[in-house]
Amino acid sequence: MQTADVEVEQEKILAADAVILQFPLWWFGMPAILKGWVDRVFAYGLAYGFKKAGNKYRYGDGALKGKRAMLSVMIGGPEKDYSPRGINGPLEQLLFPITHGTLFFPGMGVLPTHAVYGTGSITAEGVAAAEEGWRLRLEGLFNDALIPFRSQNGGDYPDAHVLASHVAVGQSGLLAHIASGQLAPRSAEAVPQSVDIGA
Ligand SMILES: Cc1cc2nc3c(=O)[nH]c(=O)nc-3n(C[C@H](O)[C@H](O)[C@H](O)COP(=O)(O)O)c2cc1C
Repeated sequence: MQTADVEVEQEKILAADAVILQFPLWWFGMPAILKGWVDRVFAYGLAYGFKKAGNKYRYGDGALKGKRAMLSVMIGGPEKDYSPRGINGPLEQLLFPITHGTLFFPGMGVLPTHAVYGTGSITAEGVAAAEEGWRLRLEGLFNDALIPFRSQNGGDYPDAHVLASHVAVGQSGLLAHIASGQLAPRSAEAVPQSVDIGA
């Protein structure tokens, strides 16, 4: 049983084909007010404990299965700081608790994150480039490849807790839970994953 305002938000999610969380990056995560929305709306019975079956439905299975989700993140710093060896750590790894732990957990398919970098020094041209980049991403919302997170019930986790010994051999940590073994942007593909408008 949820409060009426939370129920309204849950109904919006259940009615949606895709859920986009758009936020400025604050201390390498979402602002507290958005986190508070997630904490209240992604509640028992919907986002976890689906069908009152404990952890049976999670990571690729659950009430939100069949929907798509994407993060759209505005970032003050330059893309370089979030590159594979960048000082902040790769963006998609920093956001793993949201893409994997919050969106994939209740069953949604998650697209690679859309990022706009250098927002602290945005120019009119930068805004135009960001708008075009976002338009392209939205075009692919229902067609672009999802991050290939491993699903709990797809065979990779025989006890529904830990990866089978023959899966992701020699790997541990976050990237072991992605079938491709990498979370990096698909730089070879036509649609840009990010726009860097800063220095
Ligand atoms: C509280 C706070 C925390 C922030 N943390 C980060 C951060 O971790 N990394 C970063 O690159 N920029 C950070 N920034 C800069 C924001 O990402 C930047 O202001 C935002 O993308 C621009 O959107 P806005 O105009 O809505 O503020 C932070 C800004 C604030 C106010």
